[in-house]
Amino acid sequence: MTRLRPVFSAQEIAQQVDRVAAEITARYREEDGEIVALCVLKGAFVFFADLVRKLDFEPQLDFVRLASYGQATSPGEKVTFSKDMEISVKDKHVLIVEDIVDTGRTLAYLTKVLETRGARSIAICSLIDKRERREVELDVAFSCFQMDKGFVVGFGLDYAERYRQLPGVYEVCEDA
Ligand code: XMP
Ligand code: MG
Repeated sequence: MTRLRPVFSAQEIAQQVDRVAAEITARYREEDGEIVALCVLKGAFVFFADLVRKLDFEPQLDFVRLASYGQATSPGEKVTFSKDMEISVKDKHVLIVEDIVDTGRTLAYLTKVLETRGARSIAICSLIDKRERREVELDVAFSCFQMDKGFVVGFGLDYAERYRQLPGVYEVCEDA
């Protein structure tokens, strides 16, 4: 049976979203040039919706969806776009908004592509920065929460496409 253990409540998340939105606003407010907030689908959609409504500047918004092939943890894993961006990032500041950074491979790939396309700056904002399994050095400039390990769901995060709608974050515990 699958049990869900509460990890971050909706209220705690809302407080952290406010804090991070203020940090991001301070970082970008005086920046000249266009700013793009880029949602990594599907997991970040709830976080993204809450976050962008708290920003005190006007970014362009866009969405990508990335797919990984091969073993999730293998160094040979390939990442591709299953949905690419629709606006250009050339000479723009890009804020990547992700649900959770784990090994770092997904965002290492995305960051490299955005660099190739001429982004003026790239920063990463993640709801959760899960550090124990990190394989690629990555600067997560903005994060609401840090975790060492565990598989979590809710607030956009899924287990086999379920639980995304939960207002809080829960750890999945498999009972023997
Ligand atoms: P990387 O490339 O950083 O992958 O290893 C990050 C992606 O892996 C998924 N992921 C999770 N999804 N609960 C989830 O629902 C988790 O605890 C979890 N850890 C990693 C997620 O898709 C993330 O974008
Ligand atoms: Mg994700």
